[in-house]
Amino acid sequence: MKFFFLEGACIMGKLGNYLVILFISGFMLHESDAFSKWVLELGDNFADLHTDGGYWLVKFYTPWCGYCKRMEPIWGHVVQTLKNTHIRIGRIDCSTFPNIAQKFGITKYPTIKIIKGDEQHTFQGDKDTEQIVNFALRMSGPAVEHITRPESLTNIKNMNQLFFMYVGERQGALWNTFNDVANKMQAHAFYYSTSANIAKKHIYLNDTPAVFVHKENSQYFYTVGEGNEIEEVHHLNASMHKWMNEERFETFMKITEGNIEEVLQTNKYIVLVVVEENKLQEIPKEMLEFRNMVESVIRKDRDKYHSSFQFGWTSNLELANSFAMETISLPYLMVLNSTTLHHHIPEDEPLVMTVEAIELFLERVYNQTAPVYGGNDFAVRLYRAYFRAKTTLVDRYRGNPVLTIVLLGLPTSFLSFILYSCICSDILDAEEEDEDLHEKRE
Ligand SMILES: *[C@@H]1O[C@H](CO)[C@@H](O)[C@H](O)[C@H]1NC(C)=O
Ligand SMILES: *[C@@H]1O[C@H](CO)[C@@H](O)[C@H](O)[C@H]1NC(C)=O
Ligand SMILES: *[C@@H]1O[C@H](CO)[C@@H](O)[C@H](O)[C@H]1NC(C)=O
Repeated sequence: MKFFFLEGACIMGKLGNYLVILFISGFMLHESDAFSKWVLELGDNFADLHTDGGYWLVKFYTPWCGYCKRMEPIWGHVVQTLKNTHIRIGRIDCSTFPNIAQKFGITKYPTIKIIKGDEQHTFQGDKDTEQIVNFALRMSGPAVEHITRPESLTNIKNMNQLFFMYVGERQGALWNTFNDVANKMQAHAFYYSTSANIAKKHIYLNDTPAVFVHKENSQYFYTVGEGNEIEEVHHLNASMHKWMNEERFETFMKITEGNIEEVLQTNKYIVLVVVEENKLQEIPKEMLEFRNMVESVIRKDRDKYHSSFQFGWTSNLELANSFAMETISLPYLMVLNSTTLHHHIPEDEPLVMTVEAIELFLERVYNQTAPVYGGNDFAVRLYRAYFRAKTTLVDRYRGNPVLTIVLLGLPTSFLSFILYSCICSDILDAEEEDEDLHEKRE
């Protein structure tokens, strides 16, 4: 049965290719020709190739998916950036090679994975050049990179990228825990270690060993909470996990469809400002002012909010609508409860709110006296599923209108034809009679 299905999928895939080439002359397929000499077109041969001991960055795609096509220029930049590294780059057309897609558990397109032997990691997050490149670089090196020269630390700081750092001798409980957690969370952030001497050239250090996060030109240190002696190692592990999870996003981040799932994993309240943004990333003045005002709340009182609130903003209206479950007007302010997916909205219009009003609103959310909307119950999940399905369908349509209509249209028209001929034969007759009458009158 399974075999039959795969054969079917394979044939369907080839038919799909054929249709694409036929109807849109295949020009989109060749968009990335400029980079193709660095990208290997892989197929079933990859089943053997990937065990050769090196790192592979592989894009699993199909010719008919809209996201895959829109990603082409980004993928081109990724290839360009990584071409002189030790990472090899390839792509696999899953409609032609369904076996290999199944072997790597591909369920959606495009999927980007870094693969080394039996080890594989799927890229999650926004498919932009910087994030994919960072992911590939992170996953193809050691979990914790050791810094031995002061200049290297300068370079890392200049990258303007959030990172975690361990300072001190690479031994003892704190180092072991840092190393363990870094290995588990390697896909999410950069981890470094260095000596106290090098670190002291850059930052003010009290005591070593120490662990800090560097973001937006500031350092925030990890402090070990109180622990029961017997369970000390476990306690350290849990508390560092928790701390890194809390700290791994920027103070006021842009929230997108690519990162929302991860942001929800922080288990914090998500303070979300929704604004309009055009293709040039311009935001209307009054919305920008509102956004800046909300940002100022967390900037000036980080200690008070950051352990329970993650602040951010978005211009993805559909994403915001799917949480608000209504069509919202902009600018908009909502606070999402990341565990229950309930949300809170202020009573006042955002544009008339002051910093004090926002602070009061957040306090009421925190002490659970603010009104609660939505949630994660059945109706809400159904709505979100509908929202996802709609987005996927629209995307597929944009990617290839003809194929979508053929795929969706054929079964539909076949069904309507059957219904039409079975149930509506009376009406058909009636219409013919009508026409007869007509002719007679004329
Ligand atoms: C460390 O903590 C994390 C999360 O709390 C947990 O998933 C992991 O199993 C723990 N590891 C050890 C060695 O206790
Ligand atoms: C979300 O709601 C639950 C249930 O009301 C509550 O226990 C929790 O503290 C809230 N906040 C977050 C950030 O999960
Ligand atoms: C919750 O916070 C609001 C705003 O600070 C305050 O007025 C209210 O008394 C608090 N309620 C409780 C039960 O603490």
